[in-house]
Amino acid sequence: PRHIALVPAAGSGSRFGAQMPKQYLPLAGQPLIRHALATLCAHPRIDRVVVALAPEDLYWQGFDWTALGPKLMPVHCGGASRAASVRNGLWEIAGWARPEDWVLVHDAARPCLSAAMLDTLIDTLADDPVGGLLAQKVADTLKRADGADRVEATVPRDAMWQAQTPQMFRLARLADALDRCPDVTDEASAIEAAGLRPRLVAAGAANLKVTWPEDMKLAELILQTQGT
Ligand code: CTP
Ligand code: MG
Repeated sequence: PRHIALVPAAGSGSRFGAQMPKQYLPLAGQPLIRHALATLCAHPRIDRVVVALAPEDLYWQGFDWTALGPKLMPVHCGGASRAASVRNGLWEIAGWARPEDWVLVHDAARPCLSAAMLDTLIDTLADDPVGGLLAQKVADTLKRADGADRVEATVPRDAMWQAQTPQMFRLARLADALDRCPDVTDEASAIEAAGLRPRLVAAGAANLKVTWPEDMKLAELILQTQGT
């Protein structure tokens, strides 16, 4: 099967609070989104890189993407939620891909994705019947609040992971799962709702998502360390 990357990039970055959506802000000399796109396009095992842009996006066309090569495929198919953007992207992909092809959904806002992370994910899931996602074990002690910011309980953390992306599932199964479960915050949740257990593939803290302005400094540091 082929490996198709789908990058939802139709968010507005409301928590970041910048003038433009965070995926277009400059990070280490490039628009933030370009880092992950370059890694995906350069990876020999990724066949196509579909980017789900907001229908009204005017930023994408302001940059020159030709250096990333022919795998890159921007589509103005974004929706009102991340899940809707992904679902719309899957409709585009279904026009030319096969049901059993793998789709790797990766947040535009995770710039520090590396080739090694992709190799680990693809190798681990190659023969997996379900698929899975990059994730990281929780390090901090976890507290559950009672609604008034008081601790109701301490939650054992040994079994707790933070979900990252890419999340890698077969095209047809993922599309079907999202049709049945459109209000999820990640793809794995939809697969879980279908009664399956996605595989957690350990990745480090370097694969962070830029959500708040202070995340930019850390992302820049990580990119420098990776030498990209
Ligand atoms: N995303 C999307 N379509 C949406 C909302 C989000 O494609 N309607 C994308 C974002 O562009 C981002 C990824 O989903 O790459 C993860 O979402 P998040 O970090 O929440 O980004 P935003 O939604 O843009 O930020 P915020 O929630 O702070 O507004
Ligand atoms: Mg969001």
